[in-house]
Amino acid sequence: MDGLSLDEIERLIGAADGRDDDLWKTISGLGVARVARLLVEEIVFRADPANVHRTFDVGLELTGEGIAEPVGYVFRVRPEGQIEFFEGTSATAVHVISYDCADLVRDVFGHARTPRPSRRALRPRFEESHDPSRDRDLLESVLYSQRATTAVLSGIDAAPPDLGELSTRYLSDKWGGLHWFTPHYERHFGGLRHERLRILEIGIGGFEGRSTGGGSLLMWRRYFPRAVVFGMDIFDKSGLDQPRIKTLRGDQNNADWLTGIAREYGPFDIIIDDGSHINEHVLHSFSVLFEHLRTGGTYVIEDMWTSYCPGYGGDDAAVAGPSTSVGLVKKLVDALHHEEHHVAAGVAAEGVASKVAGLHVYRNLAFIDKGINIDGGIPRFIPRRGLV
Ligand SMILES: C[S@@+](CC[C@H](N)C(=O)[O-])C[C@H]1O[C@@H](n2cnc3c(N)ncnc32)[C@H](O)[C@@H]1O
Repeated sequence: MDGLSLDEIERLIGAADGRDDDLWKTISGLGVARVARLLVEEIVFRADPANVHRTFDVGLELTGEGIAEPVGYVFRVRPEGQIEFFEGTSATAVHVISYDCADLVRDVFGHARTPRPSRRALRPRFEESHDPSRDRDLLESVLYSQRATTAVLSGIDAAPPDLGELSTRYLSDKWGGLHWFTPHYERHFGGLRHERLRILEIGIGGFEGRSTGGGSLLMWRRYFPRAVVFGMDIFDKSGLDQPRIKTLRGDQNNADWLTGIAREYGPFDIIIDDGSHINEHVLHSFSVLFEHLRTGGTYVIEDMWTSYCPGYGGDDAAVAGPSTSVGLVKKLVDALHHEEHHVAAGVAAEGVASKVAGLHVYRNLAFIDKGINIDGGIPRFIPRRGLV
């Protein structure tokens, strides 16, 4: 059975907020079995690690329009904390979670709103015993089994941890040791958590390995439950592809290639440059990709320390020059004020000025907001000299 493509996943996420009949049409069109598998994979990805002393099975049963036989899955919760899954049923499942498939789509991919009454049934399967000497063991078993079920349910209900914790969990370097970026990301992106987003990050990490790195891609996937995340890297990283994450191989300094992928997968809501950090590459990528950022979106540049580092094409001086990432940001401060110049400034000629709507600069990190930056500026009748 083929997994859902990114387009299909986006269609399902879009339908999760729609009317029941439209949602059911989307589920049937995509195939109930494929949708069920995606939901189970997503639940396992999001679930908190379980703290159990032995393996427990937890069942899932999906019913609904056009589903003749309930679709069954088993979550196998291991003492090491991880959860495996397979299609079918388990005679030893400690709970069976029953859902109308459309309701589970809404609970996993819908826009989070105020808490609502439960949309699922939760049926415990207690082991029966008529031997009083086993009562304590059975009670203990019930208590541990709750931990297993709670871990599975956390994959549906739990709010994502904060970015610092996710960065640490998935081994991104955005928090701790080298950088302290995540509170800034949290401030700028926290309000977008439940939006439908397309995110592009340059730089996946993990060196040459096909399946190594990807810490920040996983972090974004977990933090933004309704986003699709594209990661690009000079190395092949296709071993990291999974639902809602797609890797692309190419050079961030190659304008034709960047334009090609942006036309295919953009426009993006968020673009993050955490790639080579070579100043020429950073400026080049920005000059191509800013155009493919949605109006209202944000372009992020990390590791601007390389502006002061000749090994990265930076300047060995306290004041960074125009061909560095800090130089780009300084130029954009002027661009932001393009209407106050009353003549087209250099940056305005590139067409970027009227689209830079905000700049937020932290140490080694810049957020460039894209918007419509045209409001006429300060009128001519306001005196062009100080009044006193
Ligand atoms: C700092 S790591 C990315 C870390 C990752 N974003 C995270 O937070 O977990 C930088 C990545 O940029 C990639 N890279 C280097 N030069 C590149 C280029 N010219 N184009 C695209 N990617 C490049 C490297 O292979 C490396 O994987």
